[in-house]
Amino acid sequence: MQFELITGKSRQFRATLEELDRYAQSPWPILLTGETGVGKELLAQRIHRLSIRRQGPFVPVNCGALPPGLFESELFGYERGAFSGAVQSHRGLVRSAQGGSLFLDEIGELELGLQVKLLRLLESREIRSVGSTRVEQVDVRIIAATNRNLKERVQEGQFRLDLLERLSILAVEVPPLRERPEDISLLAAGLLDRLGSTYLNVDFSCLLDFEWPGNIRQLRNLLIRADVLGAKMVSTELLTQLIKKEKLQTEASGLAGKAVTGVTLADFEKQVILDKLKRCHGNRKRAAKELGIAKSTLHEKLRKWKTAESDQAWPLYREPHQTALAQ
Ligand SMILES: Nc1ncnc2c1ncn2[C@@H]1O[C@H](COP(=O)(O)OP(=O)(O)OP(=O)(O)O)[C@@H](O)[C@H]1O
Ligand SMILES: [Mg+2]
Repeated sequence: MQFELITGKSRQFRATLEELDRYAQSPWPILLTGETGVGKELLAQRIHRLSIRRQGPFVPVNCGALPPGLFESELFGYERGAFSGAVQSHRGLVRSAQGGSLFLDEIGELELGLQVKLLRLLESREIRSVGSTRVEQVDVRIIAATNRNLKERVQEGQFRLDLLERLSILAVEVPPLRERPEDISLLAAGLLDRLGSTYLNVDFSCLLDFEWPGNIRQLRNLLIRADVLGAKMVSTELLTQLIKKEKLQTEASGLAGKAVTGVTLADFEKQVILDKLKRCHGNRKRAAKELGIAKSTLHEKLRKWKTAESDQAWPLYREPHQTALAQ
């Protein structure tokens, strides 16, 4: 478990941790909300480690990943012969979390029929295996997480209000990275340390000029790329180059609601063209046609960019488009 790796010194993050640490000691369910990649799973593990159940198991369940038909039997177990293929009985994830914590990730994805069953577990601590008439008592602490707005899901008729009320007696909202910029350099240094990367005299301030819609996961992925591209030597130039690319891609995929600063129209054009080439598997004729420009114009632009880019920077663009640009 990654308990000791939790990083963050900002006022917002410390307040979140304090709240969470106090809640961890109690027996009640906890609901963690926050955007994708803010660290909900890591914090769920911390809750478990700080609870009186720390010696018991921590069992994560991704409510969005299991098909609804399988979810009930995976969670509550099944009796031998309960359905075709049930050649032997299965205890299920809830029983395997006995004495510990059950982490219900992406709870907002749970379908309504299963929400009723979960409600029963929360209200009476009872479960029943699929195909069995026997009701059993279990002792598990529920920690749930979601990046959805559950109140909105309730209004849409997709989430039960009674379940939300049960789950959110103790609710913690994990702040997004852009609301705690003080943590960015600290996180970056910690993540690079863990990668075993060298980053002597690196100025991390270039990482502040971005919204980070994918939060810490996105930061981590960018640093992994920096570690690989720099062959374990990360420089300010490399990070600046990568963050520029990240901005363009974010803008292109419409992830960020707000305008991206520091990106020119020429940068944007370049990204659109390179993306198109990638999608056309390097076929310049097709890419030019789909972009609505002459093939000679495309050639000219590629030639210009290739000579304009320094040797160090160009591989960043070449890497995903190798076939396109090698022609
Ligand atoms: N405070 C932190 N310190 C160090 N690493 C962190 C921190 N928070 C998150 N991480 C790292 O960021 C990545 C994403 O975290 P995590 O999976 O917990 O996010 P999440 O909120 O569950 O995201 P999602 O909603 O997409 O499931 C993980 O690799 C995790 O180890
Ligand atoms: Mg998660």
